[in-house]
Amino acid sequence: MMTHDASNTDHAVSAQTELARWQQGLAATCARTTLFREAFVLAEVASTQDALETRSARPGTFVTTLRQTQGRGRFGRSWEDTAETGVAVTFVIDAQPSERLVLASAVAAAEACERSLGRRVGIKWPNDVVVDGRKLSGVLIERRDERALVGIGINVRQVSFPEPLSKRAISLAMLGARVDRLDVLATLVETLDRALVASDETLVAAFLERDALQGQRALFATPAGPVEGEVRAVDPMRGLVVRTDAGELFLPAGSTSVAEWAGRSAK
Ligand code: BTN
Repeated sequence: MMTHDASNTDHAVSAQTELARWQQGLAATCARTTLFREAFVLAEVASTQDALETRSARPGTFVTTLRQTQGRGRFGRSWEDTAETGVAVTFVIDAQPSERLVLASAVAAAEACERSLGRRVGIKWPNDVVVDGRKLSGVLIERRDERALVGIGINVRQVSFPEPLSKRAISLAMLGARVDRLDVLATLVETLDRALVASDETLVAAFLERDALQGQRALFATPAGPVEGEVRAVDPMRGLVVRTDAGELFLPAGSTSVAEWAGRSAK
């Protein structure tokens, strides 16, 4: 029978092997990209957004981890990824207008998920990747001085989610894709590299082909209070047209967030 010490050593050795495999694989991926030059792979970190390596990174770097223990989401929410099952990565890039970054990251995350699944996914404005109304990937964009930190999480190997996530989260594995997290991440690096240099028109078209919000009833948080209605049109860089009981309203992208849609909380 294996002693605890032996099993801990085995675990440490396999983590080292996995780190080396990711480091090598991602160095090769960087060499195929235009923008990304350096990848840091951490065995474990609270959040890739806050890692020391991220704080000091130059644009063209990304920081990922085998295990993220306190992932952060938008609006101060948490991002669950504590069991070495997801992709968690922060890309450090030169700051660009935030609407463009939001759009490019949404399209890149959707395309990376599609490569694994072999099927089209949806994008719920502004940048959640969804299937059947459940979230597969989320993006958190933060500015630090002249740099933007584009944090992307993709649910890869989870076979279930704890309450209250179970009705609103989904993974590639739950959709039938048996994929290696490293392959999903390598694909994401390439799709983001392309999206960041694509024209606005190309990105908007890619978004609209996947738009999951148009035609849905949703509840929005706005500076003037909650607004409920049916989404008539989505302009991913500018905002939404929503039909409410009081008529059609334009909700600007910069000050609007989705609180509920498809009968679920948007968290
Ligand atoms: C959201 O949907 O609210 C955004 C989720 C963003 C999660 C990613 S995982 C990598 C990076 N590190 C974090 O702590 N958050 C982002």
